[in-house]
Amino acid sequence: MTNSVFPVIRDSFYELPGSISKLAPLGHRIMIAADSNTSVLFAKEVAQILMPYFSEVHTYVFEAGEEHKNLRSVEGLLRELISLHFDRKDCIAALGGGVVGDMAGFAASIYLRGIPVIQLPTTLLAQIDSSIGGKTGVDYEGFKNMVGAFHMPSLVYANTSAIQSLPEEQFFSGMGEVIKTALLADARLFSAIERKRLEILARKEGILYDLVGRCSEIKAEIVERDPKEKGERALLNLGHTIGHAVEKAKNFTMLHGYCVGAGLAAAARMSADRGYLTEEEFGRITDLCRYFRLPVKVEGLDPEEVFRYTKSDKKMAGGQIRFVLIRRIGEAFYTDDVTDEELMRGILSVLA
Ligand SMILES: NC(=O)c1ccc[n+]([C@@H]2O[C@H](COP(=O)([O-])OP(=O)(O)OC[C@H]3O[C@@H](n4cnc5c(N)ncnc54)[C@H](O)[C@@H]3O)[C@@H](O)[C@H]2O)c1
Repeated sequence: MTNSVFPVIRDSFYELPGSISKLAPLGHRIMIAADSNTSVLFAKEVAQILMPYFSEVHTYVFEAGEEHKNLRSVEGLLRELISLHFDRKDCIAALGGGVVGDMAGFAASIYLRGIPVIQLPTTLLAQIDSSIGGKTGVDYEGFKNMVGAFHMPSLVYANTSAIQSLPEEQFFSGMGEVIKTALLADARLFSAIERKRLEILARKEGILYDLVGRCSEIKAEIVERDPKEKGERALLNLGHTIGHAVEKAKNFTMLHGYCVGAGLAAAARMSADRGYLTEEEFGRITDLCRYFRLPVKVEGLDPEEVFRYTKSDKKMAGGQIRFVLIRRIGEAFYTDDVTDEELMRGILSVLA
C-alpha cells in the first residue's frame, strides 16, 4: 500500500471499497479496530461493506475512553493479530475517534515492524486532526502520548455523517480544533464559521462536509510539507501549550478541545498584548469559542501549577518553550522568545 496524507471526505461509508482498491491488491485480511461505542454504531455496516473485498474481516473492540489509551489495550489488539496469524499484507482499520486511531495506528506501526493502517475517523476531532499525519501512540504513566511512533496511514476516509451521533460535548470539543485550524491558516474560513455558526451548531450535513473538507486539507498540507515536525507542523500546536497544561492541571477531566479553547484564548491574549491582534479581533476569537461552549475562563486552577506544566510541555526547543502566537486571524507563527512574564499573563487571562 502507498501512503497518502490527504483524506477522502464522503458522507457515507459506501465509497470505501473504491478508495481502498486504489491502494492495495484486495483479498487480504482486515482487522477493524473500534471502541465499545463505535463498534455498536458502525462496525457491522463497515464490515458488511468490506466483506466482498477482503478474504477475512475481523473486528476488535477496545473499551472506549482516554483512560484506556494505554499499552495494555494495544497489547490486547496485538495478541488478537498474532492469534489470527495476520501478516504484513494484512491491515488494520481504525474505526473511531482519536483514541482508537492512536492505538490502532500504534499497533500497526509495531506489529511485524509495521503493517498498513487505514483511518476511518468518526469524531469531528479525528476527522480534521488526529487521523491525519501519522502520529500514533498511547499515554504512559500519567503522561499523554508519551509512547508512540510516526506511522502514516495508507488511507484516511472520513464519513462526515458519523458526526451526527456524536454527543454534544464531543462535537464542541472538535470545534476547538476547527477554530484553531481556521485561526492559524485561513481567515476566510474563520469568517465563514462566524457567519454560518447556526448551521454548524445544527450540524447541517453540507456545512459539516465543507468544514471537515477544508480543515483536513489544511492539516494535510502542513503535514505534507513537514511530516516529522521539524518546523511548520509546530503551528498546529496553536492553543495547545497552555491547553495541555490546563488539561493536566484538571487531571484530564476536561475534554481536550475545551482545553484547546482556553489555550487559544490565552494565545490570543498574548498576541493582542504584543500588538499583533486588535482588541476587536481578540473579541471575535473569544466570542466564537464561547459560542461553541468552549471555556475561555477556567475555574479552580492554581496559576503557578499551570505555569509549571506549561514549561514542562513536550514541545520545547533546548529548554526554551516554543510558543505559537497569532499574527493576524488566519496566520500564526512560532517563536522561542516568549518570556515567563508573558506566559504568566497569558495563563492568568484564562483563569477565573
Ligand atoms: N495523533 C494525533 O495527531 C492526535 C491529534 C489530536 C488528538 N489526538 C488524540 O485524540 C484523542 C481524542 O480523540 P477524540 O476527541 O476523537 O476522542 P475519543 O476517541 O475518546 O472519542 C470520544 C468519544 O466519542 C465516542 N464516539 C466516537 N465516534 C462517535 C460517533 N460518531 N458517535 C457517537 N460517539 C462516538 C467514542 O467512543 C468516545 O467515547 C486524544 O487521545 C488525543 O491525544 C491525537
